[in-house]
Amino acid sequence: MSSFCRTLFISALLGLSAVNAWCGDNGGAGLAWGSQAEADKIGFNTILGFKSSGPFDTAGNPILTVVSSFDWSLAAFICGQKNPDSYPQTTFGPVLTISGPTLCLTISELEAANATISLQPCVNDITANPVPTQMFQWIGTDYITYGFEFIGNQSVPVDPSSSTDYVPTLVPATNITGAYVRLDYLPDGLPASTGLETGMILNLSDD
Ligand SMILES: *[C@@H]1O[C@H](CO)[C@@H](O)[C@H](O)[C@H]1NC(C)=O
Ligand SMILES: *[C@@H]1O[C@H](CO)[C@@H](O)[C@H](O)[C@H]1NC(C)=O
Ligand SMILES: *[C@@H]1O[C@H](CO)[C@@H](O)[C@H](O)[C@H]1NC(C)=O
Ligand SMILES: *[C@@H]1O[C@H](CO)[C@@H](O)[C@H](O)[C@H]1NC(C)=O
Repeated sequence: MSSFCRTLFISALLGLSAVNAWCGDNGGAGLAWGSQAEADKIGFNTILGFKSSGPFDTAGNPILTVVSSFDWSLAAFICGQKNPDSYPQTTFGPVLTISGPTLCLTISELEAANATISLQPCVNDITANPVPTQMFQWIGTDYITYGFEFIGNQSVPVDPSSSTDYVPTLVPATNITGAYVRLDYLPDGLPASTGLETGMILNLSDD
């Protein structure tokens, strides 16, 4: 599906007129855990996604976990961009499902020490910037993949050479739950995004 058709399609799902769309489709979004440098060499090794079988947060929403296959396909939407023609390039907006009902990647808490990334109804439609709990950023360096960060209420875009307040960790699998992504609220906690750090990464496809 072309980006334009996809925007019309999403607009239809959200009951919008396409002429009102503010945030444009940036393409299919694949998520993984790793570094951009490693992913560019060996591909996505530790794929992240959502399963209808869980794991779930305490409210029952599926959370971002390590998967071998996922139950929802995702797309990233551009609501704003810095340096569209050079690196590093930062793009921010929502990431939402394109199969089944439209849901947005959502943080359970802005501050909590064990926040997870879940699928929940989008608060704003694509005629406005996402609310802080649904605001993400992807960073283009000179790698094929993108660094992927939760931005929350920080002023967007967060400069890749600055730190963000939400530090992701891959919580190891136990015999009860698979490995999942946790975000800790640590003001000024995360170092610059050079493509070499381990964290959430994203690829964009034209599907
Ligand atoms: C892009 O992401 C998808 C979903 O995570 C994954 O299946 C695919 O292998 C990735 N593609 C590349 C080239 O890394
Ligand atoms: C974090 O949240 C998950 C999901 O609700 C829960 O299973 C886990 O026990 C929590 N971990 C800690 C360290 O609180
Ligand atoms: C973002 O939220 C945190 C937690 O509520 C708060 O301490 C901080 O001042 C907020 N930052 C901005 C820029 O609003
Ligand atoms: C999971 O592991 C814990 C501690 O290692 C153990 O006590 C518990 O019985 C295990 N649960 C299952 C369902 O195997």
